[in-house]
Amino acid sequence: MRKITIVYYSPLGTCEEISQRIGREISAVWQDAEIELLSLTHADERKAAIERGVSCDLLFLVFPMYAQNMPRQVAEMLEKCEINATFASMVCAYGKGNPTLALRRVRVVLTKKGMPTVSAMHLPVGRVHKEKTGSPVLPEYDCAGFVESTLSNADVGERARLSCSAEEKKAPHYYL
Ligand SMILES: Cc1cc2nc3c(=O)[nH]c(=O)nc-3n(C[C@H](O)[C@H](O)[C@H](O)COP(=O)(O)O)c2cc1C
Repeated sequence: MRKITIVYYSPLGTCEEISQRIGREISAVWQDAEIELLSLTHADERKAAIERGVSCDLLFLVFPMYAQNMPRQVAEMLEKCEINATFASMVCAYGKGNPTLALRRVRVVLTKKGMPTVSAMHLPVGRVHKEKTGSPVLPEYDCAGFVESTLSNADVGERARLSCSAEEKKAPHYYL
């Protein structure tokens, strides 16, 4: 059974909502997957996550952009937590800035920790939309498509990983 861990940091609730949607979409594609949602939002949750560590086949990291970067709480978790994931994926929610740099910074950390990134998405959130609908996540956001391509990339990556030599396995993989 494949284990998927969705780690999120979400003081205002957007990334939590996205994480729950991602979880539901994964269950629709990989019915037998074990899905775990792990919040870093509160200090006690972060402490528990760091102490426990993360071990899974596919890690989703869902975070808001703060000052063109990942929030320090996410950086702390990435620095201190023992993470063993075969593949990783990232989602960055943002207001008005450009999330490319924040995503790149997270990818560098994940790669250094031995996790190839199989997909990434940046998600503009709308305050006006939230006032109207209660949810800041814009309707054109294609969560199902994102999850489907992520799982497909992880499958392709897994086949490549299993078929490559021991020497090649030591080399870092880059998917982006
Ligand atoms: C402290 C703080 C700093 C932020 N900095 C930026 C920023 O530099 N650029 C940007 O586009 N959005 C910025 N935002 C907007 C958040 O990325 C956006 O509201 C995100 O959806 C919040 O996620 P959450 O609802 O899961 O907490 C910032 C929000 C906060 C609270």
